[in-house]
Amino acid sequence: RQAAAAPDSRYKFKELAWGNDETHHIADGYDADMLLRWGDPITTDAPEFDVMNQTAAAQLKQFGYNNDYVGFWPLNDEGTRGVLCVNHEYTNEEVMFPGLGRQDNQDFAGMTPELIDIEMAAHGGTVVEIARGEDGKWALVRDSRLNRRITPLDTEMTFSGPAAGHDRMKTNADPDGMTVIGTVNNCAGGMTPWGTYLMAEENFHGYFWTDVLDAEGKPDLSAHLDAASLKRYGVPGLWYAWGRFHDRWNIDKEPNEPNRWGWIVEVDPMDPTATPVKHTALGRFRHEGAETTVSPDGRLVVYSGDDNRFDYLYKYVSTGTLSDDRAANSALLSDGTLYVARFDEDGSITWMPLVHGTGPLTAANGFVSQADVLIDTRLAADALGATPMDRPEDVQPRGDGTAYVMLTNNTRRKADQVNAANPRAESSFGHIIEIKEAGGDHAATSGTWSILVKCGDPSVAEVGAQWNPETSENGWFGSPDNCAFDADGRLWISTDQGGSWGKTGKSDGLYALETEGALRGHSQLFFRCPVGGELCGPYFTNNGETLFLAVQHPGTDGTKDLKGFERESVFEDPATRWPDFDPAMPPRPSVVVVTRKGGGKIAV
Ligand code: FEO
Ligand code: CA
Ligand code: CA
Ligand code: CA
Repeated sequence: RQAAAAPDSRYKFKELAWGNDETHHIADGYDADMLLRWGDPITTDAPEFDVMNQTAAAQLKQFGYNNDYVGFWPLNDEGTRGVLCVNHEYTNEEVMFPGLGRQDNQDFAGMTPELIDIEMAAHGGTVVEIARGEDGKWALVRDSRLNRRITPLDTEMTFSGPAAGHDRMKTNADPDGMTVIGTVNNCAGGMTPWGTYLMAEENFHGYFWTDVLDAEGKPDLSAHLDAASLKRYGVPGLWYAWGRFHDRWNIDKEPNEPNRWGWIVEVDPMDPTATPVKHTALGRFRHEGAETTVSPDGRLVVYSGDDNRFDYLYKYVSTGTLSDDRAANSALLSDGTLYVARFDEDGSITWMPLVHGTGPLTAANGFVSQADVLIDTRLAADALGATPMDRPEDVQPRGDGTAYVMLTNNTRRKADQVNAANPRAESSFGHIIEIKEAGGDHAATSGTWSILVKCGDPSVAEVGAQWNPETSENGWFGSPDNCAFDADGRLWISTDQGGSWGKTGKSDGLYALETEGALRGHSQLFFRCPVGGELCGPYFTNNGETLFLAVQHPGTDGTKDLKGFERESVFEDPATRWPDFDPAMPPRPSVVVVTRKGGGKIAV
């Protein structure tokens, strides 16, 4: 397979050949260097990583697991120093801990309280200062006062907005419903225009436990007051054993605790003592991300997908407008209107407000106040008739009123459930929707939509893919997940095929996807992951010269197809030991920093 020469594209690089092997690959002319790996010490007093003797105390001062969202905020005009904000979405016991297989199908027999504390300390986020040296290479500034970990083990947070302090937010540990320890399953996120870091809480349901099971061994919610809500959110998911040792993760003991998760968290990376805030006005669902933009009249707009099969696309519009006052700007996340999208067959989109007292959102239907509407955002959106989507992942707005929505896949959609915006049954590879808001205004309540690409192999007719015909065998992809614009407004897509990468044979990677002109819908491969890795990030610095990528769970997803693992420990015999290739080290999720050889913008 020869790498094809790029056609007359706005992206000036020669595309990479597709494949799947034990290391990463980048297009010619670029460097892809490791910046931060799981276990790297991030403070001066942090111990060096010792994977065979890991402790929670050490992990609290080391880079966490499964890096996902990456954001950057420059600290000088040259853009050579800045603060890097990284989410740590989840943990994989089978590759973190020696001798342990996948725990969820083994009754969590190996999970001790000590290992669970390490898992909790490896979740959350990392905020660190980084700087670019004379040689053009980025490195951690280990003695920066800004460096901190945010975890569900020890980081106290507060709530803002209509659900803060509500009775349904109160627990034994927090009788005021105003304080929660930490955040989990932070997938994608966003940076606000004033330089704060938004962490989206995605699959929070997986962390909850119950000992009350039915005859089939499934959670029995019949005695629960909130059973309809729990069921709609998939709580408890029983993915982790935390609830065996911590009451707050056990819904039998703390029935309100799930209501305190599934929000957008705001962190001030400039103040290491600042208490993060869960902003309830942005709704509660499995937030994939929280990308922001500003309307022409100065209101903050935040787009967020609910990553679940047949769930919805949302956006939030602040009541007030942006100013130079950072504290006042944060208050924009407490007072505004949350909307859910209806995609009509004629190519129009309507944003329907989730406001208590309007339409069906009344006490008669179980919504006593705006707090109920927000805690049960999914139920409220059901009542409004929102359009069920093929798993909305990242949504990237551009300042001109355009937004791109990644719909990753939905193999459970039946032929009689397709609609114009989700046109394929049993969609294994997903698609991307382009939204044009009315008047180029992201705060508009209507607009139009179209499908930019339908993903998958265009040479296989039954896949039903739709690409620009110039797209090569290297350029097409499946399961779009995260995306970003570069400094010149060009779109880049990263993929997460999960265990189903076997359907394409391709590794996950980063693709440049043209949105304009004759090459609209043309895709080129720029970077690919080592086997089993999912690609997260991506994030371009404002000057366009640096691109941050996050390789998540290398050596896991799909290795069961490749080497017959599934319930075995991947730790002892992984499909790759990327990025260290040290026989004493398992593969490590890592942030990769991409620069152009000789300097300059990435794609010019
Ligand atoms: Fe965590 Fe929706 O990917
Ligand atoms: Ca994701
Ligand atoms: Ca993004
Ligand atoms: Ca995903």
